[in-house]
Amino acid sequence: MKLREIIPDRIGFGTAPLGNMFRAVPDDEARATVQAAWDEGIRYFDTAPLYGAGLAELRLGQVISQQPRDAYVLSSKVGRIILDEEEVGARDLGEKGALFEHGRKNKIVHEWTAEATERSLEGSLTRLGVDRLDIVWVHDIAQDFHGDAWLQKFEEARTGAFRVLSRLRDQGVIRAWGLGVNRTEPIELTLALDEPQPDGFLLAGRYTLLDHEHALQRLLPMAAEQGVGMVVGGPYSSGILAGGTHFEYADASPEIVEKVRRIREITDRYAVSIKAAALQFSLAHPVSVAAVPGATKPSRIAEDIAAVQEKIPAGFWVDLRQSGLVSPQAPLPEGA
Ligand SMILES: NC(=O)c1ccc[n+]([C@@H]2O[C@H](COP(=O)([O-])OP(=O)(O)OC[C@H]3O[C@@H](n4cnc5c(N)ncnc54)[C@H](OP(=O)(O)O)[C@@H]3O)[C@@H](O)[C@H]2O)c1
Repeated sequence: MKLREIIPDRIGFGTAPLGNMFRAVPDDEARATVQAAWDEGIRYFDTAPLYGAGLAELRLGQVISQQPRDAYVLSSKVGRIILDEEEVGARDLGEKGALFEHGRKNKIVHEWTAEATERSLEGSLTRLGVDRLDIVWVHDIAQDFHGDAWLQKFEEARTGAFRVLSRLRDQGVIRAWGLGVNRTEPIELTLALDEPQPDGFLLAGRYTLLDHEHALQRLLPMAAEQGVGMVVGGPYSSGILAGGTHFEYADASPEIVEKVRRIREITDRYAVSIKAAALQFSLAHPVSVAAVPGATKPSRIAEDIAAVQEKIPAGFWVDLRQSGLVSPQAPLPEGA
């Protein structure tokens, strides 16, 4: 089923930061943030076993499992099984080694075989306290986590997770599946396969104001041609486009800080909030179905919703394009 028919609104809520991504978020603050999302009318939630080794799923589940299951859309991911036993020593998360150091200490098994996929799904349902997921993303079979070995992981998933999820989708157990990654190549490779095709994908950090050139070259034209939709993950590039200091899950480099300063000169000139510019840019591509910003503070949710609704003068987008800060190929919001 097409993502657009499943996801009710253009904005959802991403729960990676609730896995204690950058700091140890107190339980009551995490719960209040999810509750704020629900109370403000958010009805699409994205999570994953990886986020704090099950912590984000547990925290999300505490709130949404109290709501009627048909009232919201839920996605989680496969490829990481969370064990009861605790990790001794450092975790291997590729480029993102320090992510979730404040999360739960449970051991994580990284596996994308058919059997691991079934186990991963069972674990997610238990932690979330729900009886079904709507969308399942095959998580992080990409260079950033596996270096050159990513193609082996991809092959494991192609013959494992992809087939299990296609079957579950055909049986009506889930409504859609796809890849959830921070890189474009695995999605391009999947869309080129002569195999059961995914219904969409979650692409994180690669279709933002700060980074979109690569996605525009090959992936998005392919997706448009095949009628496959995109959920935009990390629309604030992990924080810097929302007033934070992180870019790509680490402290932003001086070059990125300078680029954001130049974007802010234009947002200030037009009295536009940078959050609105970031979200509306990511959503303007015809392949974008929704964006899932993350947060750990309840006040962020109302900001995100206001950002999607904010009226941005067409001149703002024209200036942004003329300044060379966005690709000339990037579709701009209607009216620009
Ligand atoms: N491989 C994958 O499948 C993948 C990868 C990445 C992301 N995703 C999905 O995409 C979602 C969103 O990505 P993300 O959460 O990593 O990044 P993001 O949405 O780009 O940015 C989230 C960060 O923005 C900060 N922020 C929001 N409003 C702010 C403000 N007014 N001032 C300062 N900081 C502000 C939040 O800080 P606070 O914590 O202080 O609120 C949060 O840490 C994830 O949660 C996940 O669901 C998927």
